[in-house]
Amino acid sequence: MTDQPGPQPIIVRSGEHGPQLGGSFYEQVGGHATFVKLVHAFYERVAQDDVLRPMYPEAELDAAERRLLMFLEQYWGGPGTYSEERGHPRLRMRHMPFRVNPAARDRWLSHMRAAVDSLELPPLQDATLWAYLERAAHAMVNTFEA
Ligand code: HEM
Repeated sequence: MTDQPGPQPIIVRSGEHGPQLGGSFYEQVGGHATFVKLVHAFYERVAQDDVLRPMYPEAELDAAERRLLMFLEQYWGGPGTYSEERGHPRLRMRHMPFRVNPAARDRWLSHMRAAVDSLELPPLQDATLWAYLERAAHAMVNTFEA
């Protein structure tokens, strides 16, 4: 036995820092079109949500939708536009002005679950994406007050 964490994915690159052969997760799930579909399906539901919708400061959700799109694309190996425009993500810090309690988290996750379902990804990709989103949403909770 070693004290290494479980099996690590093998990433084959062309050159030491070159692009990943076989594609990043971003490419494997269908690239830009897939992420556009995901965040759009998510924000359609947020727009109807009486807990979440009032938390968004801007009159239109388009800009927020674009920020989440850029962030997720960057996170999964797509273009790095998020950091070019917004700098270091610091997501927990950026959520501090908002009251992210367990109820808000659960709404967020239920809309995101429906959005992920709409992609109809193969089970392994679905599970990979979902595990991240669920963990990230739990990490974003910043108050236990109602
Ligand atoms: C747990 C429940 C969550 C709630 C209630 C919530 C709510 C919000 C709100 C109100 C904003 C400001 C809207 C705006 O961008 O103008 C925001 C921004 C953002 N959220 Fe969340 N969020 C949650 C979880 C997450 C998670 C899990 C992620 C990532 C996986 C995420 C990624 C982002 C990003 C990238 C921004 C834009 C940050 C920036 O560049 O300013 N959020 N969120």
